[in-house]
Amino acid sequence: KRHLISAADLTRDDAVLILDTAEEMARVADRPIKKLPTLRGLTVVNLFFEDSTRTRISFEAAAKRLSADVINFSAKGSSVSKGESLKDTALTLEAMGADAVVIRHHASGAPYRLATSGWIDSAVVNAGDGTHEHPTQALLDAFTMRRRLVGRDAGLGKDLNGRRITIVGDVLHSRVARSNVHLLHTLGAQVTLVAPPTLVPIGVETWPCEVSYSLDDVLPKSDAVMMLRVQRERMNAAFFPTEREYSRRYGLDGDRMAKMPEHAIVMHPGPMNRGMEITAQVADSDRCTAVEQVANGVSTRMAVLYLLLGGSEPAVTTTPAATR
Ligand code: CP
Repeated sequence: KRHLISAADLTRDDAVLILDTAEEMARVADRPIKKLPTLRGLTVVNLFFEDSTRTRISFEAAAKRLSADVINFSAKGSSVSKGESLKDTALTLEAMGADAVVIRHHASGAPYRLATSGWIDSAVVNAGDGTHEHPTQALLDAFTMRRRLVGRDAGLGKDLNGRRITIVGDVLHSRVARSNVHLLHTLGAQVTLVAPPTLVPIGVETWPCEVSYSLDDVLPKSDAVMMLRVQRERMNAAFFPTEREYSRRYGLDGDRMAKMPEHAIVMHPGPMNRGMEITAQVADSDRCTAVEQVANGVSTRMAVLYLLLGGSEPAVTTTPAATR
């Protein structure tokens, strides 16, 4: 059984296959009938121990567009609040016949534990674990960059070789940053992290990227600038940066965006702290791909579920059966 736990596990060929399959899936979304019968009879469980809007909804939409049955489990309101363990929760899902479990958990390593414990026989997809990884976010981000920087039609089979990607902000708490650094490096991009010294992780020198403390220096050399949310819920209140001091040095406003090359895009995984890491002017500008990233998340997650569960049949065919 295959799983998707970490972007670091993906080879270039794996990643390009997922991105190319996501392009096929996006074509389905352009059709009047958006559903494929590929995963009919299979069950996908969304197991969310931490809050989510985009990831949970897009995995649900992705599974439904592939005709899978979907069970949504949220720890709030479940027997987890009575102290039930991850193991017993997993055994319950197994008894219900889950073919794939999409898990978000506040503990780094929980998806790995689920995939390797022997408790369940399902494919496991990491939908964000603690400060560790969020591999499908990195894949949808790479999909968005490939479309915008390489071109939708020219992109198939292509990577992001030589593209300069800047990731800005609360890197310390960001599973999105960690997954993006690994995946973008695998796809040939040059990644630069820009963060306050207090929000740079220990050991970053072993990551395949550069580190800078000056956003203004890096912006003119960037093809994409990814702004990260300041994750106050993971910080000790004593270390909260004030909005004013943070945005002055590390926030993206209209003046800073003007320093970027004309073709360069602004990305944000969401949810955004408008006024902190990004101004409303930038968030709502044509150059910001935040909403496009959400739409691309459905196609990308369709590709991941299809490749983990779909078997050998082509994802998209032109036969009428495929559009039923
Ligand atoms: N980008 C992201 O993971 O958003 P959610 O927390 O809303 O799923």
